[in-house]
Amino acid sequence: MKAILIANPKGGSGKTTLATNLAGALAARKQKVSLWDLDRQHSSRNWLAIRPAERPVIHSLDAKDGDESPTSHSSNWLILDSAAGLHGKNLAHALKIAHKIIIPVQPSVFDMAATSTFLQTLLEEKAVRKHKTFIGIVGMRVNPRTRAAATLEAFLAQFKLPVLTYLRDTQIYVNAAFNGLSLFDLPEYLSGKDLEQWQPILDWVDED
Ligand SMILES: Nc1ncnc2c1ncn2[C@@H]1O[C@H](COP(=O)(O)OP(=O)(O)OP(=O)(O)O)[C@@H](O)[C@H]1O
Ligand SMILES: [Mg+2]
Repeated sequence: MKAILIANPKGGSGKTTLATNLAGALAARKQKVSLWDLDRQHSSRNWLAIRPAERPVIHSLDAKDGDESPTSHSSNWLILDSAAGLHGKNLAHALKIAHKIIIPVQPSVFDMAATSTFLQTLLEEKAVRKHKTFIGIVGMRVNPRTRAAATLEAFLAQFKLPVLTYLRDTQIYVNAAFNGLSLFDLPEYLSGKDLEQWQPILDWVDED
């Protein structure tokens, strides 16, 4: 099973949006996917609760089930959506399970400053240093051809971390979430442009 943690201690950075859409993308590929909501706000779990039954199934992994043994779960993929402020014991626990971490970062000075310490903490982790855990960044709510995108890229360059892709700011994410859907559940004429932006994320999670 491949476990992917979506994390950034900055609130509202786009973790749940990334987690639910990644789970939706993998489910659309007929993969067996579990979504584990580590956040007490239960945004991902609430999204799953309203997900229409006829859509590709995404299993909900409860904290209790997860605590027992998430790695023995029968899914091919486990997506972990984490809470704002993730640190300490909870972070250590999540890192033990995940072998890839996706970090959404918005191109604002506040978001970059709040993410900086977290990135430093991760880079000091043994599993990251020994290339057992991989980190990918997603520029969230950003147009790649803007000054904001260039500033974000320059900020991330100091950590030598790859920017997998930029996801644009669009109400498509908001509207899909209202209906328990991901972009991968929508007709292509609505989501085509965004699915292109998602492809590098899917290629990256597929890499060993
Ligand atoms: N690319 C996007 N375009 C437009 N809106 C977006 C995009 N990404 C996220 N949002 C919106 O931004 C808000 C915050 O996103 P989200 O809930 O995914 O962040 P989060 O990191 O999970 O927040 P929290 O820290 O509270 O768990 C939501 O209303 C979401 O719909
Ligand atoms: Mg969230």
